[in-house]
Order: sequence, then C-alpha cells, then structure tokens
Amino acid sequence: MNTITREDAKLLINLAIEARRRAYAPYSKYQVGAALRTKSGRIFTGANVENAAYPTTMCAERVAIFSAVSQGERDFDVIAVVTANGGSPCGSCRQVMAEFGLDTVVLIADETGKVFDETTVNGLLPGAFTPAYLKR
Ligand code: THU
Repeated sequence: MNTITREDAKLLINLAIEARRRAYAPYSKYQVGAALRTKSGRIFTGANVENAAYPTTMCAERVAIFSAVSQGERDFDVIAVVTANGGSPCGSCRQVMAEFGLDTVVLIADETGKVFDETTVNGLLPGAFTPAYLKR
C-alpha cells in the first residue's frame, strides 16, 4: 500500500472539502468533493454535477479522474472523497478507479475532515474486472 503522510491526507481532504463547495446538487442536495493526486504530484479536484435528467449526473470522483486523464495523467496514488457524512464511493466510481490501478489509496472523510476510512481501490472493489482481462 502506498504510504500517505498525515500532512498529505490533510491537504487532499481540505482540497476535497473546498471542491465540494462547488458541487451542483440541487436535486439530491448531497454534495460530494474529491481530490486526486497523481504519482507525478499533480492534484485534480472534482465535485458532483447533477442534471434535471437525473442519470446524466456525474460523481465527484469521476469528474476528478476524467479531468486528470484528459490532462494526460493515468497514474494515481491517492484520492480523497468528502461528503457530509463519510459516504463511500459508488460502484461506478469504484470501477473507474479500478481501470487505473488497484493500489490507489482511497481516503473517505466528512465535511469536517474526519476520516471514516483509509483503504485502497482493491479494498473497495475486490475481484475487479480490469483491463488485464482484455489483453490477448
Ligand atoms: N455521488 C458522488 O458524487 N459520488 C459517489 O461516489 C456517490 C454519489 C453523488 C451523485 C449524486 O449527485 C449525489 O451524490 C447523490 O447520489
């Protein structure tokens, strides 16, 4: 497991708290923020963006990951996810995380910065379907 210092964790959680304030969640009122650090040291944030056509909504984690990937980054070492109550990433976000590595550390915290869980993608999605299955 990657080692994340307390200071690193705090910084990422604070960035996720900040990103969460920009969530567009008029329907669920459940704001989510994420902060993703790449192995190269860059940080990408995301917030959930809802839509009147509900399924069109995008989660905070995937906004951060897609932002990083679209900027040329694919190697991640940690993602912090912040909600009001320490909610855990949804199944779709777990699958997207798994695409880019099972060892990425996942920090789950609430809006006060209280850490509910420190795990990995593998911990959240054991037995994941990964790109390796498509290699021939
Ligand atoms: N949401 C996220 O942003 N990430 C998750 O992992 C779980 C759910 C958002 C989607 C929707 O805007 C709101 O939280 C309620 O489901």
